[in-house]
Amino acid sequence: MRTPEEIDRLVEELLSRMTLEEKIGQMVQSAGLDTAAIGGDLDAAPLEEEIANGRVGTAIYIQADAKLARRLQSIAVEKSRLGIPLIFCQDVIHGFQTVFPIPLGWSCSFDPELVRRAVEISAKEATRAGVMLAFSPMLDIARDPRWGRVSEGAGEDPCLDARLARAQVMGYQGGEDGAGLGDGEHVACCLKHFVGYGAAEGGRDYNTVEISPSTLHNVYLPPFKAGVDAGAAMVMPSFNLVDGVSSAASPYVLQTLLRQELGFDGVIVSDYAAVVETIAHGLAQDGREAALRCANAGLDIEMATDLFNRELPRLVMEGKVPEAIIDGAVRRILALKYRLGIMDDPYLYMHEGEEKAVYLAPEHLETARCLARESCVLLKNDGALPLKEGAKIALVGPCADSKDQLGPWQFSAFKERTVTLRQGLEERGYAVSCEPATTIFEPLEGGVARAVALARDCDAIVLAVGEDMTMSGEAASRQNIVIPEAQMALAEAMRATGKPLVTVVTCGRPLLLDWFERHSNALLCGWFPGTEAGHALADLLSGDHNPSGRLSISFPRHAGQIPVYYNHMPTGRPWNGISDEKFVSRYLDGPNDPLYPFGYGLSYSSFKLAEVSLSSGRMTREDTLAVTAKVRNTSSVPGATVLQLYVHDVAARVSRPVKELKDFVRVDLDAHQERTVTLHIAPEDLRFHDGRDWVLVSGRFEVFVWFSSADCDLEKLEFTLE
Ligand code: GLC
Repeated sequence: MRTPEEIDRLVEELLSRMTLEEKIGQMVQSAGLDTAAIGGDLDAAPLEEEIANGRVGTAIYIQADAKLARRLQSIAVEKSRLGIPLIFCQDVIHGFQTVFPIPLGWSCSFDPELVRRAVEISAKEATRAGVMLAFSPMLDIARDPRWGRVSEGAGEDPCLDARLARAQVMGYQGGEDGAGLGDGEHVACCLKHFVGYGAAEGGRDYNTVEISPSTLHNVYLPPFKAGVDAGAAMVMPSFNLVDGVSSAASPYVLQTLLRQELGFDGVIVSDYAAVVETIAHGLAQDGREAALRCANAGLDIEMATDLFNRELPRLVMEGKVPEAIIDGAVRRILALKYRLGIMDDPYLYMHEGEEKAVYLAPEHLETARCLARESCVLLKNDGALPLKEGAKIALVGPCADSKDQLGPWQFSAFKERTVTLRQGLEERGYAVSCEPATTIFEPLEGGVARAVALARDCDAIVLAVGEDMTMSGEAASRQNIVIPEAQMALAEAMRATGKPLVTVVTCGRPLLLDWFERHSNALLCGWFPGTEAGHALADLLSGDHNPSGRLSISFPRHAGQIPVYYNHMPTGRPWNGISDEKFVSRYLDGPNDPLYPFGYGLSYSSFKLAEVSLSSGRMTREDTLAVTAKVRNTSSVPGATVLQLYVHDVAARVSRPVKELKDFVRVDLDAHQERTVTLHIAPEDLRFHDGRDWVLVSGRFEVFVWFSSADCDLEKLEFTLE
């Protein structure tokens, strides 16, 4: 690996030999190798010609094919005047060929180390195919389950999202500050989408966003700060407006927030066609003004369109875009290429022939199975789970034997290796009679009748319902976040049989599950569990493993509650959820609280908390407060829980949330075992942005320690920050 000083010297030397057009060519990213040219703009020259002419610096969507990547790289290295190699990128979001649970699922594991391992495996598999950079992790806080991209993030909490952000950057890049970059097994990563994309009005993708400066800083920025501090190589601005300007064209977003406040010094790549979209936003008259605004705002790379190549040379000649801005962008891009090792070995990431040994390797599948187990959340269980040994199971529903368990944003070539729930239960030894009865949307002819017949002579019904992979992810917002009607008709018929009803939900978002809370005996949220879906679900349904997932996002009772999230403001008229007061913040026709709150999840074990204590009732700005608690497994079933520490700033310059997660820990306990665990509150955890500055304000703080963000049975603890 080259030292930073060596890289700086080599970059300056190369930059001094580049023409203006060659510099700008490094700032353009091809849209996809299956489109004949950059950005699918078919009147441009073929991609190979663009590469040979030095008009492309990075490429996306390589079809997971090292041979193709090698061919294109050889054009860049042998045909272009300066032979500068390309960076090949792909959306490696929750796996490359081995597919892990969707990120919203794995965030419910509250297990950053396991997520780090999964992401490192993804990098290892991706680098076999020539991928050097992952457009991941997606760090958008999301409070609106109508937004399909809620599936790609870590839910509603900044603390959990920040911990997972750090874990993923470390996993992709092989350690702090990209320690593993250039070893050919790790990839550069790209934090996205900076910033506030998840606050799209109405949960409608690409819609307007309105966020106050204090909320922007206190809720949406912390995960990005964690990712930048861990050394992420790249950041991708979001499609949405921030204070009236789309991020890719916003000096406030790219310079003030990202470069100055967060101290990011890596590469900034636009999202797909976001430069040209400044015209649709009404921020630019034409392509020339779009290129001008985005380049001057500090965008380094234009993804998927070609305005930089077309417009910047003249804009620089006219002095409208300083060449110093171009040079800054190209320095950062070239420095990344040196750090990735491709300036010394352009074919470092092309491992033709190794794919078979690496893709879906046994240890990769085992990690996927383990993370899928930890991602599932047991939402209800009246004793119907675990299934009895040897039970006769009527497995019904469209997700019962479906391989559509991988979720959105994965490009695995091994979909047929997905383990279905049916396979998992049969391999586990259950006598399974299976009837899909419906598709995701439509009843199958006679399907419900067949399912009822199966149910008649079974010991238990496992009803497998949910969404398909197209119903969440990008451009997949839903107004009505319900299980489709045909599946509900099947559910009603199953309930009518009177047999024990265990419901397993496959989904990419919180759905409205009130009917299942009332009528299922047990309810397990599997999210999209990934390649090892059936094995992980059978591990949990059989009791071989104990569910330990905790919700990273609230599940509304009713769509009319949205947005509903735990770290909300108290309002001037808070309602305790019980009294019949009228003039308080409440609805006439329903409760405020969600069906299932952030941090909630059940287990086959039962856990008690005792003797919670603070290391002190007073905290200075140099201290870190220790919060110790005794956690006991009062059952005979070994299991894991997640102890959560919340803080409430009682009175401050701006209103603060009723509680905020500040630390958490997974606690594994044998039967009847008790353990003392310690959580921490540092002064940094108490800082907040008041709309103008980050402040740390003396005063009284309440502390909640519990297994969920709600129903905390313990008395409040308090401390004072001096
Ligand atoms: C998409 C997504 C972004 C992705 C990029 C490249 O539009 O917004 O998350 O990384 O384009 O595929």
